[in-house]
Order: sequence, then C-alpha cells, then structure tokens
Amino acid sequence: MHYFSYKGNVLYAEDVPLEALAREYGTPLYVYSKATVLRHIQAYKKAFCGSGGILCFALKANSNGAVLKLLAEEEAGADIVSGGELFRALKAGISPSKIVYAGVGKTAAEIEFALKKKILMFNVESGEEMEAINRVAGGLGVKAPVALRVNPDVDPRTHPYISTGMKKYKFGMPVEDALEFYGKAAKMEHIRITGIHQHIGSQLTDLAPFRDSLKKLLPVVEKLRGSGIDLKYLDLGGGLGIRYSRDENPPVPSQLAGSLLPLIKGLGVTVVVEPGRSIIGNAGVLLTKCLYRKSTGEKNFVIVDAGMNDLLRPSLYGSFHEVLPAIKSRRAFQVADVVGPICESGDFLAKDRRMPVVKEGETLCVMGAGAYGYSMSSNYNSRPRGAEVMVDGKSHRLVRRRETYQDLIKGEL
Ligand code: LLP
Repeated sequence: MHYFSYKGNVLYAEDVPLEALAREYGTPLYVYSKATVLRHIQAYKKAFCGSGGILCFALKANSNGAVLKLLAEEEAGADIVSGGELFRALKAGISPSKIVYAGVGKTAAEIEFALKKKILMFNVESGEEMEAINRVAGGLGVKAPVALRVNPDVDPRTHPYISTGMKKYKFGMPVEDALEFYGKAAKMEHIRITGIHQHIGSQLTDLAPFRDSLKKLLPVVEKLRGSGIDLKYLDLGGGLGIRYSRDENPPVPSQLAGSLLPLIKGLGVTVVVEPGRSIIGNAGVLLTKCLYRKSTGEKNFVIVDAGMNDLLRPSLYGSFHEVLPAIKSRRAFQVADVVGPICESGDFLAKDRRMPVVKEGETLCVMGAGAYGYSMSSNYNSRPRGAEVMVDGKSHRLVRRRETYQDLIKGEL
C-alpha cells in the first residue's frame, strides 16, 4: 500500500501533485511519502514487535537522514553493513542497542567503531571474521556480542544477484557447520554469543523459502541449548518483496509473522527483523522529464533526464518499474524503451513498454524507486545526483539538495 495515486488526471504524492514538485525542485527528483513510510513501519511493529521483537531497518535500501529520523522516532533499529551506515544510523538518532551489523567484509576499523558504539550484535559470516572480532574486542578489553549468519541452502526464488541463502553464494556459514563454529566461538575470550541470523535473499514474493530456512535453523538453536549455549536473539533477516507490477502479489508483514512466529513460539528468543525494501520501496518514486523522442524504425525511444546512474535496478537486474505520466490525458499508446542519457545501451528504465505516447517536456513518474534507488546511484558520466524531497500531507521539503558540478570534484587532489 502506498499514497501515490491519481486524483482525476493528476498523479499525487499524498496531497501534493507530483508535477508541482518537478517544477519546483527540478528533475531527476526522488519523492518520498512520509505517510507510506510510517504505515509500513507500523505494519512491521504490529506484526513483530508486540511480543518484544526488534525492527531493524536495512539502511542499504535508503539511507537518507530524513527517512532514518522517521525510523528513529518510531524507535526502530538498524541493520547495517558498513561503518558508513553505522555513522548515518547514529547521526539520525537510532539507538546502538538496536543495531545489527552484517556483511562478509567488515574491516578491523569498522569492527572497532561498532564495538565502541556498543551495537546490539555482529552477524558474523566467517571463521576468520570471528577471529578478527575477537582480536579487536581484546584490544579494547571488551566482549563482542555475536550471532552466526547461517546459510541454510534454501532457494529464495528471486533474482540470482539478490539471492543469498544458498551455498553457491558468499553469505553466511553452512548450516551443517554451525555447531562446530559456535563451539569454537564459545572458547574465544572476547566473544559473547548472543544470537543466530539468516537472510536468504531480497524481493521474496513467497512465504515458503522463509519458513524452509527457519526450519533449518531451529534444530541448531535447540542443540546449542543442549550444549549450554543459550541464544537470546533470532534474526530472521529481511527480504519481503513489494509489488512492482500487477503480476506480483507479495505477502504483507502480518502474513510473514503469521507464518514464522508460530514456529518459534515458546523458544524464548527475541526476534529481530531486517526489512528494507518493504518499508521504503513503494514509499518513493523517481520523477524524470522527457527530453526527446525518436524512432529507429525498429524501436521507439523516450529519452529522459534520469538514467542508470539514478536508478540502476532495471539495468542491473532487468527489474520492472511502472512508468506513469504525472498528468494523464487521452492519447494513443505505443511500445517504447524509456532510456536515460548515459552512454551505454544498458541504460534504460523500461524496455519494450506499452505506454501512452509521451510528450516532449512531460514529467514521468518511475514507481517503486524508494528502495535501492538513491542508495545505488552514482556520478557515472559525471552526472550530479538528483535531489530528494519528503512529502507530508500537503507539505513538502527538500531532504537532500541536488548535487552541483562542484560536488563532482570535491575531494579530488
Ligand atoms: N538484511 C541483510 C543482511 C541484507 O543483505 C539485506 C539486503 C536486507 C536485510 C534487506 O533486504 P530487503 O528487505 O530490502 O529485501 N539492490 C537490490 C537489493 C539488494 C539487497 C541486499 N541485501 C535491489 O535493488 O533489488
């Protein structure tokens, strides 16, 4: 559910016409709906936090401070994968006691930063990483709280680049090695075992893989108990999909909770969830302007002012994003590629899309761009990044200014 909809012929974000935002702030422009973000946070809180669970927003989906502040105000935590994300989460006021840290390549400096800030736990992905954490914690004279990220070898049935929970991917440790791994960690002087973690992939539209994965983790928890290692936290990861096209019908947080929580009832663990996309994906759109149109005889092209540097998902994963006119009108349809200005044939936002014939100068709205939009953007082709705006009812405000040419060279020596 989101609050972007047509009122008559005009596409609105809550109570603000998107065309007016494009005019005021220029394009490319990322527009977020506060009410949508809050709605999704509430949905997760209701589903998972009633019983004491912790909601840790995956910062990689969107790390704008205004978005993070909303989460902090709602007392959400964070799932981070770098020192930079820790810095942003803390700056936005997210409590370190609700921050979990995953990722296969944490550096000693990042580990030290997180230890000093007293995060909730490290989700450890290899034996050598565990040793490194033990070493750094020893240097600081503290004990590091850790969970093991377990790779259950379950097919999440999503795009291979965003699948993680199978043995052929670099994430986590094989479930059959988990007990041995925990045994070794338990003997390390500066390690305190606190949990177990899974995250099998992203944009999952089916509940079965979540359940299958959890079912593989539970025997590990039981056996550890038997050997005197008690886990406090069970981190279920993120990965719940959103609806990008009408063909998709992903479950909502209450359905995810309804499917998973009964499996762990009575286990006495605190549940952690790490959603990114399902909080912010449909809460953001990317506005872009049609610069030119052309036809090659074989193809129609709609050339817009946003490219793969602004929204990489279609180019990288072949992802579908709906493209809607900011102002609807009666007109003919055509099949076209919506392409950006980047000098690569892989630079497209939509391919072979049946859509209304676009006018020169017209504002188009790329839906579902709130997650992995700005956060994956770049300056490729020396294009300054666009601005970000937060809409709240009738009001709106700039939450990141558009980059300038000077920004392109800042830091160069
Ligand atoms: N937790 C961990 C350990 C993760 O690696 C991820 C995402 C999440 C949570 C959040 O997953 P979500 O709820 O957003 O699905 N750039 C890709 C998505 C990459 C996801 C990477 N990990 C895309 O645009 O589809």
